Amino acid sequence: MTKPRIFLTRIIPQQGLDIVRRLETDYDVEVWPHPLPPAYDVLTQKVRGVTGLLCLLTDRIDAALMDAAGPQLKVISQMAVGFDNVDVPAATARRIPVGNTPGVLTDATADFAWALLMSAARRVVEGDKFTRAGKWQTWDPIGFLGPDVTGATLGIVGFGRIGQAVAKRAQGFDMRILYYDTQRYPEAEQTYRAQYADLATLLRDSDFVTIHTVLSKDTYHYFDDDKFKLMKPSAVLINTSRGPVVDPAALHRALTSGTIAFAALDVTEPEPINMDSPLLALDNIIIAPHIASASVNSRNKMATMAAANLSAGLKGERLPNCVNPQVYE
Ligand code: DGY
Repeated sequence: MTKPRIFLTRIIPQQGLDIVRRLETDYDVEVWPHPLPPAYDVLTQKVRGVTGLLCLLTDRIDAALMDAAGPQLKVISQMAVGFDNVDVPAATARRIPVGNTPGVLTDATADFAWALLMSAARRVVEGDKFTRAGKWQTWDPIGFLGPDVTGATLGIVGFGRIGQAVAKRAQGFDMRILYYDTQRYPEAEQTYRAQYADLATLLRDSDFVTIHTVLSKDTYHYFDDDKFKLMKPSAVLINTSRGPVVDPAALHRALTSGTIAFAALDVTEPEPINMDSPLLALDNIIIAPHIASASVNSRNKMATMAAANLSAGLKGERLPNCVNPQVYE
C-alpha cells in the first residue's frame, strides 16, 4: 500500500529534519535537495497528492497550488514567522491549517537589526572594504566619522515582539525610543521607556528608523517618497521586516538626493535583489541577504517548530502555532 506523502521544499536544519524523518514509518517523505527553491511550476507538480507540506518564505503557496495538491492536503507548515507568501484565506477556505514559527527568532532578528544599525552608524562595512583595498594609510582624525548611537533617537515602526526586542537593546545605549504601531503597548512603553508617536512625528524626530511591520496590502511600499521626505537628512533607515514595505525606487531617490543619509537592509524587493538594481551602486547602503534569523539556535528552533506543526497537522491535531485558528471553529 502506498503511504501518504509529505513534501519539504528545502533541506531544513537537522533538529527539524530529524523530527520529519521519524514520520517516515507512516509517510513517504520527499525533501527538495537543491540549494535553490523549486520553481513554482515544479512545486505545483511536487505537491500533487501530498498530505503535508513544509515550506519556506521563498515558496509561493497560493490557491492554485493548494488545488494542485488536492483535497487530502491536511497541513501547510511554514518555517518562518512571516507568512505573506501563503494565501492564508485560501487555506482557511479549504480548512487547511497553516503553521508558522513565532518567538524563536525574535532575539536573533533584533540582534541583526542592531548589527545593521551599528554597522551603518559606525561605517563597519565601508571600513572593511577600505582596508582590503589597501587604502588604510594612517589614523585619520577626520576620517570615517559617523552619527553617534548613544543618546540618539530611535524610531521603531511596528512594536510587536521584534520591535520591542530592539527597544530592549536600545536601552543599553541610552536612546530616546519612539514607536509607532496600529495599537498601543502600555506595558512595553513602561518596560522599555518607549514613547508612542504618530508616524510623522517619529519620522521627523528619529536619527535611526527601524522597520518591524508585517507585509500586507496596507504596508506595501509604506516607505515611499512622502515618508522619506519627513525624515532627517542625517537619518539611517534599517529594514529587517519584508522588502516590499520599502519602495526601492523611492529609497534610491532618497539616498541619492540626500533626503536621508543611509539605509541598512536585510530584505529587498525582489529577493534576491536584481544585480542591476541601482541601489547596489550606492555607497550609502548595506544590503544583507535576508539573514537576520540565521543564528544556529534560531534556525534549529524554527525547524523544530515547523516540524512540530507539520506532525500535529498530519495527525489532525491542533497546530502548536497556527495562523488561521478559524479552521478549528
Ligand atoms: C521570518 O521568519 O519571517 C524571517 O523573515 C526569516 O528570517
